[in-house]
Amino acid sequence: MGEERRPATSRRRLLAGSAAGLAVGGAGGFWAGTRPTDEPRTTPGAPAAAAGVETADGRGLPVPAAGPRQAGVDRPATPPRQLSFVVLGERAGTPLDRAGIAALLAGLGDEIRTLTASEAPDPRMPDGPGNLTVQVGIGAAWADLAETGLGDRVRLPTFRGSDALPGDLRDGDLVLAVAADDPALPDHVVDLLLTGMTGPTAPAGLRVLWAQRAFRSPGSGAVVRNPLGFRDGIIQPADAAAMDDSVWIAEGPAAGGTIGVVRRFSLDAAAFGTLDAEEQAAVIGRRPDGTPLSGGDPDGDVDLTAKTPHGEYLVPADSHARAAHPSFTGSPLMARRSYAIRVDGDGTAPRPGLLFWSFQNDVGVFARTQQRMDRVDRLMDFAAPTAELGYLVLPGFTADRPLGAGLFGT
Ligand code: HEM
Repeated sequence: MGEERRPATSRRRLLAGSAAGLAVGGAGGFWAGTRPTDEPRTTPGAPAAAAGVETADGRGLPVPAAGPRQAGVDRPATPPRQLSFVVLGERAGTPLDRAGIAALLAGLGDEIRTLTASEAPDPRMPDGPGNLTVQVGIGAAWADLAETGLGDRVRLPTFRGSDALPGDLRDGDLVLAVAADDPALPDHVVDLLLTGMTGPTAPAGLRVLWAQRAFRSPGSGAVVRNPLGFRDGIIQPADAAAMDDSVWIAEGPAAGGTIGVVRRFSLDAAAFGTLDAEEQAAVIGRRPDGTPLSGGDPDGDVDLTAKTPHGEYLVPADSHARAAHPSFTGSPLMARRSYAIRVDGDGTAPRPGLLFWSFQNDVGVFARTQQRMDRVDRLMDFAAPTAELGYLVLPGFTADRPLGAGLFGT
């Protein structure tokens, strides 16, 4: 088959940089007056909250927003079922400088701590936050403002289908990823957060470039049934040490952050549905319950060397599980947290899609994987990108260390 396999590496690729800057103090902005004076009164690290356990009201247990890392990557461990993903960009002619971005992010962090506070819920959240998380990220241009060269560490190269996308669907300055089990909550919180940030007279001068509602079926941990009917998200960094190794940024002003990649795909489920069950499994390299075509446990690894008596790979050469396998790109594992989407339109049949969402500390891990998929993955014949972005998930924040302080501190 002439396949080239490079050994997987666990070597960390770190975002090294200058020493962390000073914290931004007194940033009020348009959120002045809402700044909480204390941490949300939750039980940080409560096992139930961390695991994303079901609650009687179906809204999940509170997830602490404050900490060295932001919520919404691996906290809670089971991603909330509903997601509102919003990408904003600066309005032409109203660029923000470092101080402006510092104030914006600090105010945003304060607002997030207010909205996620559980014991004394904010009046705008009369039912409390449930398991609400708000993850904040910045795009390449703002990353470069934080530290020269940092933008290159988050910027995506172009892939198959990228060139057809308008610039606004490949770029962005600010990312808000708002998730909760309560279906009404993400949109409500997005509306609250956008108040004052957008609009012609907004001090922050931002506009929404694109936004996507997305959802996941119930499950435990990162695994979910995707819109093609297959269990998805099985292979992940195994534990906290693997997350440290391949997902979290360990050094420099971005330490405690990670690099988020989002690619929104429209899926041709109708064409995929014309394949019989064997062929569908051959496209993925696993059966719908996850069982690798090389055999074994549904949650186990595929065996890329296993062959039929006729010498053909059991996990086909053009299957997704083989194409995306990290051993070919010499990559550590990315953490994948994809959500399903539905594209509705008047007068047209609704189309399913996937909001692919991954976290890694080297954008090259994603890029090399996607480039290999573009070359050899049959699944890509059923998927067309409709938006994409690489961005820096900001390090965590507390009452004393505002969101973005290490990057935009003066
Ligand atoms: C286009 C829609 C996509 C669908 C429907 C999809 C679906 C799946 C499924 C069903 C699996 C097997 C179960 C698992 O290990 O989670 C899988 C594995 C995987 N996918 Fe995707 N995927 C998509 C896009 C992507 C993209 C864009 C990437 C990254 C560039 C990617 C990277 C991976 C990786 C790294 C694995 C694990 C491979 C392994 O180590 O066994 N997928 N995907």
